[in-house]
Parts: sequence; C-alpha cells; structure tokens
Amino acid sequence: MAVQDSTNEDNTDSDNQQPQDQDDDDIDINPLHIAIEEQHNQPNTNSSVSESLQKHHIASIDTTLLTRILPSQGLSFQLWPAATTLVNFLDRHLTDPTTSPLSNLLTNRPYHSLRILELGSGTGLVGIAAASVLGANVTITDLPHVLSNLRFNAELNNKAIAFRGGCVDVQALRWGEVEDFEGLVVDGPFDAVLGSDVVYYEELFEPLLKTLCWLLSDGGVFLMAHLKRWKKESGFFRKARKVFRVEKVHTDAPLQGSRNGVVVYSFASKK
Ligand SMILES: C[S@@+](CC[C@H](N)C(=O)[O-])C[C@H]1O[C@@H](n2cnc3c(N)ncnc32)[C@H](O)[C@@H]1O
Repeated sequence: MAVQDSTNEDNTDSDNQQPQDQDDDDIDINPLHIAIEEQHNQPNTNSSVSESLQKHHIASIDTTLLTRILPSQGLSFQLWPAATTLVNFLDRHLTDPTTSPLSNLLTNRPYHSLRILELGSGTGLVGIAAASVLGANVTITDLPHVLSNLRFNAELNNKAIAFRGGCVDVQALRWGEVEDFEGLVVDGPFDAVLGSDVVYYEELFEPLLKTLCWLLSDGGVFLMAHLKRWKKESGFFRKARKVFRVEKVHTDAPLQGSRNGVVVYSFASKK
C-alpha cells in the first residue's frame, strides 16, 4: 500500500481527476459526471483494487491523520479538494478561535458535548478531523457500500480521535431517505452538519436539503465546502436560501488550472 502526503498543494491524486472550471453545463465531457454515472449505474466489482494511505498533518493538535483511498472504486473512495479545505478550516479554528465562524456555535459549550454529523463523508477525513480537533462526538455517514472503508479509516485514527475525548460513529445515510434519518436522531438533532463536495448532481439537490432540515437543531449550522463546477449548482443555492441563511465564510485561492477556489459556506436555519 502506497503512502502519500495530502495537502492543498500536493493533493495530486484527486485534483487530477477534477474537471476544470467551465462556463457551460458541459456535463457530457465532464470526468466527474462520468464517475457519478458509473457509481449510480454499476457498483465497481473490479477485483484489482488500487489502494493507498494518505497522510494529513493537523497542525493544531500536531497529529497526522491517515486515510485509505481506493481510487479504482469510484468517487466515494477518493479525497476531494473541498475536504482538504474543510479540514484546514477546522484546524485553524483551534489555533485562532477568535476569527473562526465556528466560535459562535462553540461558545460556552464543552467540545465533547457537541454532536456533529458529516454527510457524504467519502473517506471520512473531515469527520475524523472534526472529532480529533474538537474532541466532539461525530457521526460520519455515506451510502451503504462506502461504510466499510469509512469504518477502516475511523479505526485507523482511533488514537487521534480519542486524544481530546472525541468519538466517531459510522452510519448509513442516504439523502432524502426518512428511515435512515430516523435512526440517526434518536438522541436529538445535530449541532453542526459538515459536508464537502456534496453538491454536484441536480437530482440530489432536494434530497440533500430535506436531509439538512431534518438533521439540524434550531441554532445549528451546516458548514459546506464547495468547488463550483457548473452553472446548474446555483439552483441548489437558490433552493437553500429559501430555508437557510447562507453565508460565505472562507474562500481558497483558485485551484491550479481553474478560475475557482473552494468556498466554505455556513447555512443557518431561518426558523
Ligand atoms: C464527490 S464525493 C465527496 C466525498 C468527500 N466528502 C470528499 O469531499 O472527499 C460525494 C460523496 O457523496 C456521497 N453521496 C452521493 N449520493 C449520495 C446520496 N444519495 N446519499 C448519501 N450520500 C451520497 C458519495 O458516496 C460520496 O462519498
């Protein structure tokens, strides 16, 4: 198994598979779209699975997290640039809480009582970093076929997660599926929901928003890292603004070869 260092600068495995910024809804030639089609139409049963471990240094806790990526298995098994941005964002919260938009949420709350859920977790890095950095109780979720890799990655980082008193639970959550949601909120809704690179497929806009409304507590926040690829994504934000106050809280420098950088948004309930 190969070991790679993963930062915004040298995250080459996943970045090379990202489409360039486009003006049109040119989805037919977009590699991400092709990957999504593959995932939805036929789960990969290829027996020659390539795998490697990526290293992610978390400066605020001076710890290196490890995640297994399985690029040949599809888009859920890779780390996308938005995830790296969200991890860096969480990392900076601990080093400079005064300027962090997370501070409002965390004021007067012991971190270990924070209940956080990550949706569309992929490799699980964002949720694992949140548990490790904040010492929070984090549920990482994805489609059922992604869960064994999520469990593997949570187990791989159990010492880092426990260091500040955090914990990670792995659960299935298919957006818009009420039976998945019901099992997750038996202890109540979540203080924060995290998501990176979860807005890309028009048919999922409504189920994703419905899921957020179900999961978030009053006063809770959805932090979403997003790299704009297609104009149609504005449809997601239009729908979201009907139920949430949406603010940009951070913008990365453009990715190499793109006009866009990853943006972190906060969504707060209008209720
Ligand atoms: C582009 S990947 C991003 C993965 C990870 N968040 C990251 O940034 O590295 C999108 C993720 O959303 C998940 N996903 C797609 N459709 C979903 C659905 N209907 N319900 C739940 N998760 C879904 C995929 O399995 C995948 O892990």
